[in-house]
Amino acid sequence: MDQTASPAPQILVESLLAFWADAGVDCLYQDEATDRIAAGLTLPPRRPEPPGAPGGAAPAAPAAMGGAQAPTADAVALARSLAAEARDLAELAAAIGAFEGCALRYAGAARQAVFSRGPADAPVMIIGEGPGAEEDARGEPFVGRAGQLLDRMLAAAGLTDRVFITNTVFWRPPGNRTPTPEEQQVCAPFVERAIELVSPKILLLLGAASAKAMLKREEGILAMRGRWFEWKSTDESLELPAMPTLHPAFLLRQPAAKKKAWSDLVSLVQRLDRPERPH
Ligand code: URA
Repeated sequence: MDQTASPAPQILVESLLAFWADAGVDCLYQDEATDRIAAGLTLPPRRPEPPGAPGGAAPAAPAAMGGAQAPTADAVALARSLAAEARDLAELAAAIGAFEGCALRYAGAARQAVFSRGPADAPVMIIGEGPGAEEDARGEPFVGRAGQLLDRMLAAAGLTDRVFITNTVFWRPPGNRTPTPEEQQVCAPFVERAIELVSPKILLLLGAASAKAMLKREEGILAMRGRWFEWKSTDESLELPAMPTLHPAFLLRQPAAKKKAWSDLVSLVQRLDRPERPH
């Protein structure tokens, strides 16, 4: 590009930024652009694991992690003991906020931990994939476009204020990619403790990444959605009915699939409001 040319008109810049935002590139890792052509057409160096943040956009991995990613088993064990110590949701939120064992925290896209929204005694717990840009900015799950669609569907089903909403991971994955199974495993003890503390009657799992991680199954979401499964805690002391359904972000891209998601919600409400059978 001719660096001496007059500045691009604002409309061109806006259009270019909109193009990158649509492609999922909505944050900058460095304050200044690196001119790699002038630097001799070299590929950018591979960043260490977990990726640091050139330009200081994200915190470095703590010394306790040796500046590198802790082995998943150690991080899971640490998460499990911190989660077990949390006596209520406020303590659990604080434990998550202080937890340094998830690589996503250092991957360059997360500004803060995003834990939950909704009443602490909700009969339904909704578990999504992981926070996106809007959630990361506001610190609450499902507050972007997909969350707004979810809220409209919940309102239509009479479920507003009857749901506690969280995700399988608490830090925004870079480029809004799907969280990896390792990232989900590290956060899982906190999700499990949230289920224990809220004690919902039913879990609603949004999208394939949530359904696969929570149910430890490999089928695609279209095969799992609308069916009832039994979710079990790691020590099998807790069991709950769980239904996977389509992720609202998918419904925004495929509006014709809303019919399926709606029928899933209707069957969830029917089960939720079914009178308990006497023992
Ligand atoms: N998608 C998710 O899976 N979770 C959120 O919180 C937002 C979008």
